[in-house]
Amino acid sequence: MRGMFVVQRASDVPKPSAYRQLNEQLDALLADERDGLANAANTAALLYEGLPELNWVGFYFLRGDTLVLGPFQGKVACIRIALGRGVCGTAAQECRTVIVPDVHAFPGHIACDSASLSEIVVPLVLDGKLIGVLDLDSPVLGRFDQQDADGLATTVELLLKHSDLSRLVEP
Ligand code: SME
Repeated sequence: MRGMFVVQRASDVPKPSAYRQLNEQLDALLADERDGLANAANTAALLYEGLPELNWVGFYFLRGDTLVLGPFQGKVACIRIALGRGVCGTAAQECRTVIVPDVHAFPGHIACDSASLSEIVVPLVLDGKLIGVLDLDSPVLGRFDQQDADGLATTVELLLKHSDLSRLVEP
Protein backbone atom coordinates (compact mmCIF):
# COMPACT_ATOMS: atom_id res chain seq x y z
CA MET A 1 0.00 0.00 0.00
CA ARG A 2 1.23 3.48 -0.87
CA GLY A 3 -0.06 6.86 0.23
CA MET A 4 -3.02 7.63 2.40
CA PHE A 5 -5.53 4.95 3.35
CA VAL A 6 -8.84 6.36 4.58
CA VAL A 7 -10.64 4.00 6.94
CA GLN A 8 -14.40 4.11 6.60
CA ARG A 9 -15.95 4.00 10.04
CA ALA A 10 -18.85 1.59 10.19
CA SER A 11 -20.98 2.77 13.09
CA ASP A 12 -24.40 3.26 11.52
CA VAL A 13 -24.74 0.07 9.50
CA PRO A 14 -25.75 -3.45 10.59
CA LYS A 15 -22.80 -5.45 11.88
CA PRO A 16 -22.59 -7.94 8.99
CA SER A 17 -22.34 -5.09 6.43
CA ALA A 18 -19.89 -3.24 8.66
CA TYR A 19 -17.60 -6.27 8.81
CA ARG A 20 -17.98 -6.91 5.07
CA GLN A 21 -16.89 -3.33 4.39
CA LEU A 22 -14.06 -3.48 6.93
CA ASN A 23 -12.76 -6.82 5.70
CA GLU A 24 -12.76 -5.56 2.10
CA GLN A 25 -10.65 -2.63 3.24
CA LEU A 26 -8.35 -5.00 5.13
CA ASP A 27 -7.95 -7.24 2.08
CA ALA A 28 -6.80 -4.21 0.08
CA LEU A 29 -4.60 -2.90 2.89
CA LEU A 30 -2.70 -6.18 3.29
CA ALA A 31 -2.62 -7.22 -0.36
CA ASP A 32 0.91 -6.02 -1.21
CA GLU A 33 2.68 -6.90 2.04
CA ARG A 34 3.73 -10.20 3.69
CA ASP A 35 5.44 -8.86 6.82
CA GLY A 36 3.55 -10.29 9.79
CA LEU A 37 4.42 -7.53 12.23
CA ALA A 38 3.40 -4.76 9.82
CA ASN A 39 0.19 -6.50 8.82
CA ALA A 40 -0.83 -7.28 12.41
CA ALA A 41 -0.18 -3.63 13.34
CA ASN A 42 -2.30 -2.34 10.46
CA THR A 43 -5.07 -4.85 11.22
CA ALA A 44 -5.26 -3.60 14.82
CA ALA A 45 -5.32 0.01 13.62
CA LEU A 46 -8.01 -0.64 11.02
CA LEU A 47 -10.29 -2.41 13.51
CA TYR A 48 -9.75 0.26 16.17
CA GLU A 49 -10.57 3.07 13.78
CA GLY A 50 -13.28 1.29 11.83
CA LEU A 51 -15.40 -0.27 14.57
CA PRO A 52 -17.43 1.69 17.13
CA GLU A 53 -17.32 1.37 20.93
CA LEU A 54 -13.84 -0.08 21.41
CA ASN A 55 -11.11 0.91 23.85
CA TRP A 56 -8.50 -1.72 22.98
CA VAL A 57 -7.67 -3.91 19.98
CA GLY A 58 -4.57 -6.00 19.64
CA PHE A 59 -2.71 -9.25 19.30
CA TYR A 60 -0.94 -11.67 21.59
CA PHE A 61 1.41 -14.19 19.95
CA LEU A 62 2.33 -17.57 21.37
CA ARG A 63 5.89 -17.99 22.71
CA GLY A 64 6.17 -21.47 24.15
CA ASP A 65 3.22 -21.69 26.51
CA THR A 66 2.87 -17.95 27.04
CA LEU A 67 0.99 -15.32 25.06
CA VAL A 68 3.17 -12.24 24.53
CA LEU A 69 1.80 -8.81 23.66
CA GLY A 70 1.94 -7.87 19.97
CA PRO A 71 0.81 -4.84 17.97
CA PHE A 72 -2.17 -3.06 19.48
CA GLN A 73 -4.18 0.17 19.78
CA GLY A 74 -5.29 1.47 23.14
CA LYS A 75 -3.78 1.84 26.59
CA VAL A 76 -0.64 -0.03 27.63
CA ALA A 77 -1.50 -3.65 28.37
CA CYS A 78 -0.18 -6.63 30.29
CA ILE A 79 2.70 -8.20 28.39
CA ARG A 80 2.59 -11.92 29.21
CA ILE A 81 -0.46 -14.13 29.70
CA ALA A 82 -0.09 -17.82 30.52
CA LEU A 83 -2.21 -20.27 28.56
CA GLY A 84 -5.45 -20.83 30.45
CA ARG A 85 -5.31 -17.45 32.22
CA GLY A 86 -7.82 -14.66 31.65
CA VAL A 87 -10.01 -14.39 28.58
CA CYS A 88 -7.05 -14.48 26.17
CA GLY A 89 -5.45 -17.51 27.81
CA THR A 90 -8.80 -19.33 27.86
CA ALA A 91 -9.50 -18.66 24.16
CA ALA A 92 -5.94 -19.78 23.35
CA GLN A 93 -6.00 -22.93 25.45
CA GLU A 94 -9.43 -24.00 24.20
CA CYS A 95 -8.70 -22.71 20.68
CA ARG A 96 -12.12 -21.10 20.35
CA THR A 97 -13.61 -17.63 20.20
CA VAL A 98 -14.64 -16.42 23.65
CA ILE A 99 -17.27 -13.68 24.05
CA VAL A 100 -17.50 -12.09 27.49
CA PRO A 101 -20.52 -9.78 27.88
CA ASP A 102 -19.40 -8.60 31.34
CA VAL A 103 -15.72 -8.95 32.19
CA HIS A 104 -16.43 -8.54 35.92
CA ALA A 105 -18.43 -11.77 35.80
CA PHE A 106 -15.59 -13.73 34.13
CA PRO A 107 -13.49 -15.52 36.74
CA GLY A 108 -9.81 -14.73 36.23
CA HIS A 109 -10.35 -11.84 33.84
CA ILE A 110 -7.14 -9.80 33.57
CA ALA A 111 -7.95 -6.09 33.80
CA CYS A 112 -5.57 -3.98 31.70
CA ASP A 113 -7.79 -0.92 31.27
CA SER A 114 -10.43 -0.28 33.94
CA ALA A 115 -12.71 1.13 31.21
CA SER A 116 -13.12 -2.34 29.64
CA LEU A 117 -16.51 -3.90 30.36
CA SER A 118 -16.87 -6.51 27.62
CA GLU A 119 -14.44 -8.46 25.48
CA ILE A 120 -14.05 -10.87 22.56
CA VAL A 121 -10.99 -13.00 21.86
CA VAL A 122 -10.49 -14.85 18.57
CA PRO A 123 -7.78 -17.50 18.20
CA LEU A 124 -5.26 -17.35 15.34
CA VAL A 125 -4.75 -20.84 13.96
CA LEU A 126 -2.15 -21.54 11.28
CA ASP A 127 -1.89 -25.02 9.73
CA GLY A 128 -3.92 -26.42 12.62
CA LYS A 129 -1.69 -24.83 15.29
CA LEU A 130 -2.54 -21.97 17.61
CA ILE A 131 -0.17 -19.04 17.02
CA GLY A 132 -1.89 -16.28 18.97
CA VAL A 133 -5.10 -14.40 19.61
CA LEU A 134 -6.86 -11.23 18.52
CA ASP A 135 -8.40 -9.38 21.47
CA LEU A 136 -10.99 -6.57 21.38
CA ASP A 137 -12.21 -4.72 24.48
CA SER A 138 -15.18 -2.39 24.82
CA PRO A 139 -16.32 0.12 27.44
CA VAL A 140 -19.90 -1.01 26.69
CA LEU A 141 -21.47 -4.06 28.39
CA GLY A 142 -22.51 -6.82 25.96
CA ARG A 143 -20.82 -5.09 23.01
CA PHE A 144 -19.85 -8.34 21.23
CA ASP A 145 -22.03 -11.13 19.82
CA GLN A 146 -21.90 -13.94 17.26
CA GLN A 147 -21.96 -11.41 14.39
CA ASP A 148 -18.71 -9.93 15.73
CA ALA A 149 -17.27 -13.44 16.08
CA ASP A 150 -18.18 -14.19 12.43
CA GLY A 151 -16.83 -10.88 11.12
CA LEU A 152 -13.60 -11.17 13.09
CA ALA A 153 -13.11 -14.77 11.97
CA THR A 154 -12.88 -13.40 8.42
CA THR A 155 -10.53 -10.63 9.61
CA VAL A 156 -8.20 -13.21 11.12
CA GLU A 157 -8.39 -15.40 7.98
CA LEU A 158 -7.35 -12.44 5.84
CA LEU A 159 -4.43 -11.60 8.14
CA LEU A 160 -3.25 -15.23 8.07
CA LYS A 161 -3.66 -15.46 4.29
CA HIS A 162 -1.70 -12.29 3.55
CA SER A 163 1.05 -12.51 6.16
CA ASP A 164 4.08 -14.45 7.27
CA LEU A 165 3.44 -14.56 11.01
CA SER A 166 5.91 -17.35 11.73
CA ARG A 167 8.65 -15.03 13.02
CA LEU A 168 6.30 -13.68 15.69
CA VAL A 169 5.84 -17.12 17.21
CA GLU A 170 8.22 -19.43 19.07
CA PRO A 171 7.61 -23.17 19.22
N1 SME B 1 -8.52 -8.86 29.45
C1 SME B 1 -7.58 -9.78 28.86
C2 SME B 1 -6.16 -9.30 29.00
C3 SME B 1 -5.68 -8.53 27.85
S1 SME B 1 -6.26 -6.97 27.84
O1 SME B 1 -7.70 -6.91 27.82
C4 SME B 1 -5.59 -6.05 26.67
C5 SME B 1 -7.74 -11.15 29.50
O2 SME B 1 -8.46 -11.33 30.48
O3 SME B 1 -7.12 -12.08 28.98
